[in-house]
Amino acid sequence: MGKNYSKFAKVYSAGSYPAYSRFMAERLPDALGRLSYRAKRVLDLACGEGTFALEAEELGFEVTGVDRSEEMVEIAREKTEEAGADANFLQGDMRELSLQGDEFDLVTSWFDSMNYLLTEFDFKKALKTAYDHLRNGGFFIFDVNTIHGLREEWQREECYVQRDDSEVFEIHRTNYNPSRQIAELKITFFRSEAGKWERHEEVHKERGFELGRIKELATDAGFEVRVVWDDLEEFTPPEEESGRVWVALHKETPTQE
Ligand SMILES: C[S@@+](CC[C@H](N)C(=O)[O-])C[C@H]1O[C@@H](n2cnc3c(N)ncnc32)[C@H](O)[C@@H]1O
Repeated sequence: MGKNYSKFAKVYSAGSYPAYSRFMAERLPDALGRLSYRAKRVLDLACGEGTFALEAEELGFEVTGVDRSEEMVEIAREKTEEAGADANFLQGDMRELSLQGDEFDLVTSWFDSMNYLLTEFDFKKALKTAYDHLRNGGFFIFDVNTIHGLREEWQREECYVQRDDSEVFEIHRTNYNPSRQIAELKITFFRSEAGKWERHEEVHKERGFELGRIKELATDAGFEVRVVWDDLEEFTPPEEESGRVWVALHKETPTQE
């Protein structure tokens, strides 16, 4: 079994997945409006295959994307070149990133990426990365699947066909470990390559964190928790049964006396 998002990167990029980050880019100006904030330079953590970055650039943002997967970054760079765009992509781990004094107006992380951090320790490290790369007054906005989302919504169908066409046959199987708060998504996919079908498998693990705990970790990292939304259209507050929430954290370093 290969690393996550190695063989799957191409399937991800050509599948329905990028529609989500396209939507995030579309909703970003409204989200910033709700925060009465204007941003230009954006750091997108766990940027994947670059769709959010490219769409956000179209809207006038300047985006640097960072992702752990070499293959995702490669696709992001190819897409940037094809589009004649300027987005910049780096391979790196959001728990350990240091872009040497580079400051951004906004840090983002979309589509479950924060759930890929399986321990509080790792979650804190990613929060620190965001904090350290933000200018004073900047925001870190991310989405995260809730425990309810991973435990209930993800488990509605134990096994299903995600995609079945002439290029890809993709099956998802899920389970949830309540003591570790970790959901597992086993992706088995067959890809047609030069007339032959190749079988691949990846296991993706996502950790759920209590919203209260996320807020504590964010405050410990130096952030002010500005707002949590249940969605990016109505911007309603989260409910007990929210499957995913969007968290906006504000960096405001106290001025020296
Ligand atoms: C579900 S994809 C989301 C990608 C992208 N944000 C989007 O909206 O399409 C999760 C991404 O998180 C990346 N990832 C997981 N853990 C990471 C880490 N510690 N540092 C950087 N990237 C990570 C994976 O390589 C993958 O590209």
